[in-house]
Amino acid sequence: MKTEITYLGHIIRVDSGTVEVEVSNDIPSAAPIINGRLYKIGQIGTFIKIPIGNITIYGIVSSVSNTPNKSDEAFLKYNFGSRFLTIQLVGEKIGDDDFEKGIGTYPTINDEVHIVIEKDLFDIYGKKDAGAIEIGKHSSSENLSVYADLHKLVLRHCAILGSTGSGKSNTTVCILKAILDGYQGSRVILVDPHGEYSSAFPDAKVFKINEDANPLFIPFWLMSFDELAYFLVGAKPTDDQKPDYRLFRELVTNLKKENCALKAGVVNPDFVTADSPIPFSARKLWHEMNWWLNASFTTTKKDEQTRENAVIENEGDCESLVGAKFTSHLSTASNVSPYKTQHNDFYSYEKKILSRLKDSRYDFLFNPGEFKDATSPKDLHNLLNEWIGSEKKLAILDLSGVPFEVLDITVGLITRFIYDSMFWGRDETYTGKNRPLLLAYEEAHNYLNKNDNNSYSKIAVEKVFKEGRKFGLGALVISQRPSEISETILAQVGTFIALRLTNSGDQSIVKSSAPDNLNSLIDLLPSLRTGEAIIVGEAIKIPSRVRLKLNVPRTTSEDPKLVEKWQVAHPENTENYKVVVTRIRQQKF
Ligand SMILES: Nc1ncnc2c1ncn2[C@@H]1O[C@H](COP(=O)(O)OP(=O)(O)O)[C@@H](O)[C@H]1O
Ligand SMILES: [Mg+2]
Repeated sequence: MKTEITYLGHIIRVDSGTVEVEVSNDIPSAAPIINGRLYKIGQIGTFIKIPIGNITIYGIVSSVSNTPNKSDEAFLKYNFGSRFLTIQLVGEKIGDDDFEKGIGTYPTINDEVHIVIEKDLFDIYGKKDAGAIEIGKHSSSENLSVYADLHKLVLRHCAILGSTGSGKSNTTVCILKAILDGYQGSRVILVDPHGEYSSAFPDAKVFKINEDANPLFIPFWLMSFDELAYFLVGAKPTDDQKPDYRLFRELVTNLKKENCALKAGVVNPDFVTADSPIPFSARKLWHEMNWWLNASFTTTKKDEQTRENAVIENEGDCESLVGAKFTSHLSTASNVSPYKTQHNDFYSYEKKILSRLKDSRYDFLFNPGEFKDATSPKDLHNLLNEWIGSEKKLAILDLSGVPFEVLDITVGLITRFIYDSMFWGRDETYTGKNRPLLLAYEEAHNYLNKNDNNSYSKIAVEKVFKEGRKFGLGALVISQRPSEISETILAQVGTFIALRLTNSGDQSIVKSSAPDNLNSLIDLLPSLRTGEAIIVGEAIKIPSRVRLKLNVPRTTSEDPKLVEKWQVAHPENTENYKVVVTRIRQQKF
């Protein structure tokens, strides 16, 4: 065996997961040519093999040195060569069986170590198994496809991490394309905060705020009462003791109870609470508050000031936000009817709600078109059918028009609603376990921040990572700041696709979260080329350094051509920027 051309050296030390190899001094060059192909010895991240009988153990070079790792004196008496490799063991192959991750038989001192040639790599990576997708090509061989187990990639969750410009968006497109092209029943929702993906997926259904074709609506009545109170009037759940908060809750509950005959099916009002996702009109809510605040009555006592005793001239119109008109009362001191209202509970809420409802930036929430209230043409089953029930396998939720202050709650509502639909539909033929779904979160650090204790989206997404698998819901997070992402989420990620990552804090998070203990590969992260990734975890047979294909058409996140643009002089024109300012004002292209 030592005479074989692939012979590299022998083992001088064995630890639990690593071995140390002394490279034979007889190897003539640091780059032997085997079968016409050049192999460089001692390249970090490359493979070696240790044949022991009919078992072959495989490992990855993690460090190279000219002295052995443990240079105590007894060790040094031994006549050492001049090159030493530390190898992390990754898996083994028994006879003609497939390569398996993990080590059953450990090598021992003096076992031979060989270079892994292309044929061995084909043995490891093998053919495309059923239920696999091609992610890219192995960095050391253009002919070698790297496959991922689709089931584990999706349902054990996945993360694509890398500094800005390292190729995350392109990697996301690669993976989603492989899924969508290979599986006609696949379903993916992509949460796209910068609206960059629609150009890369011409066939996808794109939902966007203010877009005529497929407008994105997230009905506000999907919010729990605490969320609603916070977003409409800035009240906190700790205000629960205040009478106006309690009355507000009562009012919302009653409005919901009135709306139980719904298009998706009748709901028993006894089960309805202020938190139930039941439609009601936010305008009606405002109108009701406004009514009690401005009413005048034939009596002065608060508990006798009822609807029947009001002195009303006209009801106004809730749709156009016109309050009811009452015969004006005389001065408070006067003893003549009509009397001023004593119902002042909603005094601070009413104006805040009005200003929310008038702000067109929030229309996708508070004025959700055909999902507005129970009389509207559509209900939540229509929303689900549009997002995840259509023949289009990919729905892109373009959140580029969502004001930053509501991005968190928006992602939270989307996630919770999809989660609930998978949970309560888990045994239906057309969803749940029978038709799994992948939720992908681009720019996840923006709304899944571990330091944000009040993040609605984080709570909802963490739940998907913890529980989603059981009823067919998988998730993918994409981020340039893994160190800012919720630890609960990272701990549940089964497969890491790590692109170039320069920040050391981010690297150590990947190092500590990555499932296989392969620090040597993770140490390569700062030196990866654009579009090159280290993939570790459950979906992949062996941790690998992979090159991803550059996709066409691309996402719109591509860098502007700065030099080219700066070479051209720009003439002055005072008409410039008018449309820009109008767009800022209308928040619409
Ligand atoms: N696999 C690749 N091969 C070659 N170039 C790539 C590859 N992936 C990305 N790029 C280049 O890098 C740029 C940034 O890629 P992008 O996916 O937008 O990065 P990120 O999302 O990490 O910021 C792209 O404009 C593209 O030109
Ligand atoms: Mg990107």
